[in-house]
Amino acid sequence: MMDKELIKAYRLFLKDSIRKVIDFSATDQSRGIDPPPIEKPYAKDAKLIDLIPCDQFGNMGKIALKTAIHNRESRRSYRAQPLTIEELSFLLWATQGIKQKLDDGHALRTVPSAGCRHALETYLCVLNVRGLDQGIYRYLPLEHKLLYEFTEDNLDKKISHAVLGQSYPKTAAVTFIWTAIPYRMEWRYDIAAHKVIAIDAGHVCQNLYLACEAIDAGTCAMAAYDQEEMDKLLRVDGQNEFTIYLASVGKKLK
Ligand SMILES: Cc1cc2nc3c(=O)[nH]c(=O)nc-3n(C[C@H](O)[C@H](O)[C@H](O)COP(=O)(O)O)c2cc1C
Repeated sequence: MMDKELIKAYRLFLKDSIRKVIDFSATDQSRGIDPPPIEKPYAKDAKLIDLIPCDQFGNMGKIALKTAIHNRESRRSYRAQPLTIEELSFLLWATQGIKQKLDDGHALRTVPSAGCRHALETYLCVLNVRGLDQGIYRYLPLEHKLLYEFTEDNLDKKISHAVLGQSYPKTAAVTFIWTAIPYRMEWRYDIAAHKVIAIDAGHVCQNLYLACEAIDAGTCAMAAYDQEEMDKLLRVDGQNEFTIYLASVGKKLK
């Protein structure tokens, strides 16, 4: 039987009642602590890959918004055709691209975020992108570049296993894996941070759905995965950074 008290407690998470119990004068922001970095730092000698800037997309992605919204659906079957770097650049820009850096702690992106905190990082499990080796990469929105993280054998099987055996990531060109760095949001909102991080992730994935439609690709969101296994696969610590959402992408099956 469903536990009514537990359900009540979890429903509270969806409400904004929490705001009434937070002492906002005691948040790290209010105490004058510097905001955490906009993007996760990386080693100086890291391998970076150039992406195509937004002003060079040309006609790519130019379809009517109404068409993209109308045609959007979750697509779990893909052609074997690779994605191009141009297409991947477009999807990354559409989901997390930075339009304007305001200062060291704030930047405006293509998606909204509560308090402009943008607590998400984007990892890619690349299987079939022309010009890229298979592996785990991370998007650097400030630089609009890809950071090569590492590779492993049987990445297709490992990603599929980490999403509880769902098979379509194996045939996808790339799987987007969004992690949260909760402190970026907690710095401003304390325990009101977590609901809005989840809401933010929804905006990001919706942009991915629409952007995919515009490049003859398809995507399917995934919230069913093994938390520990996925964090281990990404080599993130599972406490200060952990997976919250995924979406596989590939060229549409005609
Ligand atoms: C938050 C969220 C989590 C989802 N998780 C999964 C998932 O783990 N596996 C899956 O196959 N589809 C998943 N989906 C896709 C939904 O099943 C799909 O959106 C729904 O069936 C409606 O179909 P449509 O997107 O084609 O309109 C998810 C969608 C959302 C929004």
